[in-house]
Amino acid sequence: VRIRRARLEDVPGVARVQVDTWRATYRGVVPEAFLEGLSYEGQAERWAQGLKTPTWPGRLFVAESGEVVGFAAFGPDRASGFPDYTAELWTLYVLPAWQGKGLGRALFQEGARLLRAESHRRMLVWVLKENLQGRGFYERLGGVLLGEREITLGGIKLWEVAYGFDLWGQRW
Ligand code: ACO
Repeated sequence: VRIRRARLEDVPGVARVQVDTWRATYRGVVPEAFLEGLSYEGQAERWAQGLKTPTWPGRLFVAESGEVVGFAAFGPDRASGFPDYTAELWTLYVLPAWQGKGLGRALFQEGARLLRAESHRRMLVWVLKENLQGRGFYERLGGVLLGEREITLGGIKLWEVAYGFDLWGQRW
């Protein structure tokens, strides 16, 4: 499996991993109608727009084994209220069959190293409070609980928690 920056031709694979892993992870947490409403085409269009835009601040990585089996997107913090945290892990998904093999960590490391090289000191990530798998992973990588916020997803209110990472401390 190779970890590398994403190219435009990876976008359909990224969208497939995103939608399939969303459905596998959030069933019973996020409303069914929302999960069913997600489409490969819709997600692919979003990532393609980003990659085609020279000023897009996102940094997209894939884990690829012939096809895309995981991906991560990083970028500037989206005004989450923690000013020390200038960078954010926007999304990180590994297909269920490929989880637990080190790909999540490898994607995290690639992104964190790039953000550090781009002079970011700290990175945060928002994860659904009920996503114990994701939270266990971020805690294993040394994330420090920063706070929580309420969001609306598919018409219902859900809580998210933020974990913070020191990009210079490198515990991950
Ligand atoms: N609890 C405790 N430790 C964990 C957990 C967990 N739930 N999951 C992984 N770990 C540990 C592993 O044991 C490993 O530690 P070790 O090397 O010391 O044994 C370390 O974390 C790295 O694990 P990986 O194998 O790299 O994890 P994986 O490839 O499965 O990626 C991820 C983790 C991204 C959470 C993946 O399982 C996944 O896609 N899950 C479903 C989607 C999801 O929750 N994504 C995050 C949503 S939040 C967001 O996108 C911003």
